[in-house]
Amino acid sequence: MLIKTNGIGIDYRDTGSGLPVIFIHAFPLNQTMWDQQLLALQSECRVITLDLRGFGQSDAPPGLSLMDQMAADVRGVMSGLNIERAVLVGLSMGGYVSLSFYRDYPESVLALVLADTRASADTQEARERRLKSAAKAEAEGSKAIADEMIPLLLGSTTLSSRPRIVERVRAMIETNSPIGIAGAQRGMAERRDSTSMLASMDLPVLIVAGSEDKLTPVAEAEGLRNNIPGARLRVIESAGHLSNIENPDEFNKALGEFLKQLSR
Ligand code: MLT
Repeated sequence: MLIKTNGIGIDYRDTGSGLPVIFIHAFPLNQTMWDQQLLALQSECRVITLDLRGFGQSDAPPGLSLMDQMAADVRGVMSGLNIERAVLVGLSMGGYVSLSFYRDYPESVLALVLADTRASADTQEARERRLKSAAKAEAEGSKAIADEMIPLLLGSTTLSSRPRIVERVRAMIETNSPIGIAGAQRGMAERRDSTSMLASMDLPVLIVAGSEDKLTPVAEAEGLRNNIPGARLRVIESAGHLSNIENPDEFNKALGEFLKQLSR
């Protein structure tokens, strides 16, 4: 399903009924990374997944894809679907987008799940790495980005013993356009630091972290938990950065329990 918002087409899925829960994917993947969450939760709540601008079946406009723009696209999808308030579940880049969304539209957020992500902006070194990677995507294509990212995105357990997950993630990356990948890298390099906002966040927050996450280690998740009043942390065992794909059973259990408490 395609919705027009902010001048571009955003592809989404909308299934189930009840509490609206919007899933925002990681870089450089697409909404199908949430397939196991959609299947597990659609009988309990209204599950919405979407492809961020530049990814999956959504349009990939040239230039920067800022986190604030992506957040505005999510808001546009909500308006199109007549959803006033929703739970946002964001993993990694999806977490950056969720924090931008909360900053810009706090009244539209019922609760947040921040998985394998961070609140800080990039260091100068990280920014330079991103700009190089964006240029590489444009020069060498998505496959080169898959080769670069897979060892970082997946934990050692998955890399050594779950070949089907490795292939699924590779396919997701390789079907994305180099323009979309480059735009998001450059957009992430520009993202604002959300650290100073954490102490004033006034809503239920669940932090999730894969125990083997190399990109945003568990210490990062502990920092978020310590800085957001009332936030809870669940560590997902035998999972790396893509904790929802690498250990869906544990991830879904943590998410399901959080959502159940919200609807009480
Ligand atoms: C992601 O998984 O979304 C990326 O690792 C985010 C990032 O590069 O900071």
